[in-house]
Amino acid sequence: MNILIASQIFAEAIDKLRIANDVITAFNAPADELAALIPDREVLVFRSGVDITAELMARAPDLKLLIRAGSGLDNLDLDYVRKHGIDLIRIPEPGARAVAELGFGFMLALAREMLRADSLLRKGRWAKHELTGYLLQGKTLGIYGAGNIGSLMGRMGHAWDMNVLGCVKSPTEEKAASLGRQHIRLTEAREVVASADFLSINVPLNDDTRGLIDAETIARMKPGSFLINLARGGIVDERALFDALTSDHLAGAALDVHAAEGEGKISALAALPNVILTPHVGAMTVDSQRAIGERVIEIVEQRS
Ligand code: MLT
Repeated sequence: MNILIASQIFAEAIDKLRIANDVITAFNAPADELAALIPDREVLVFRSGVDITAELMARAPDLKLLIRAGSGLDNLDLDYVRKHGIDLIRIPEPGARAVAELGFGFMLALAREMLRADSLLRKGRWAKHELTGYLLQGKTLGIYGAGNIGSLMGRMGHAWDMNVLGCVKSPTEEKAASLGRQHIRLTEAREVVASADFLSINVPLNDDTRGLIDAETIARMKPGSFLINLARGGIVDERALFDALTSDHLAGAALDVHAAEGEGKISALAALPNVILTPHVGAMTVDSQRAIGERVIEIVEQRS
């Protein structure tokens, strides 16, 4: 098959795909470069960081399969895909565990001021009595979007003796029961926001969630609580978050996803010591990327 891989996936998987397919790679390339490469392609593999627009897909009359090597679909023109009957296969599971583990790492690092402790010590400062630490045990973990990733985080929270609350877009009795079995109490978004000591954002980015965590929502968070964004940058109002952190309403925040992502982009939040920033690495464990790569190969083999 003629394949265009528009985002970096596991290198071994690309080598294996090349054995029986014509594979072109152009990782996070500008729109004009992708437009020049796509016309004879049948399969497009992509992740976040590249816009898969209607204009791009319209240049490939033979395009029949899109493989999203991960979860989010916010960078894909879904209307075009549906209208043109292009198959779309997502591979969300392998990355979910990795994102949840990163979220849990964020909670531990925030609770113990690990980054500040490390940076002070590197400057020779022995800040043992200046640093504040909290236990996770007994604290409330609020999962805003208790889906795949959110419920994994919730299960980890329960294992650490946290009280776990979650909300979902369309609550049902079945969902409440299934989350309940995982020790996550399903409730209203308002209660999740207001009760959480650690509020983790785990919803997909779409028209309903763009700007969802705005100044008004942040103001309803518990004083001294922490915000974690593992979802997408456009969901949290970073200006409002900055204000809440500098006015000491929130104790800290950790963001793996950002309003502006990519080389050379520096968030205003980078000026604050109580913030952890990582470059959208949630799903970037070797284990997850290897598993995603293997699944991409399986999908292509099944279609060949
Ligand atoms: C995803 O949606 O799977 C993650 O954001 C990882 C990525 O595609 O880079």
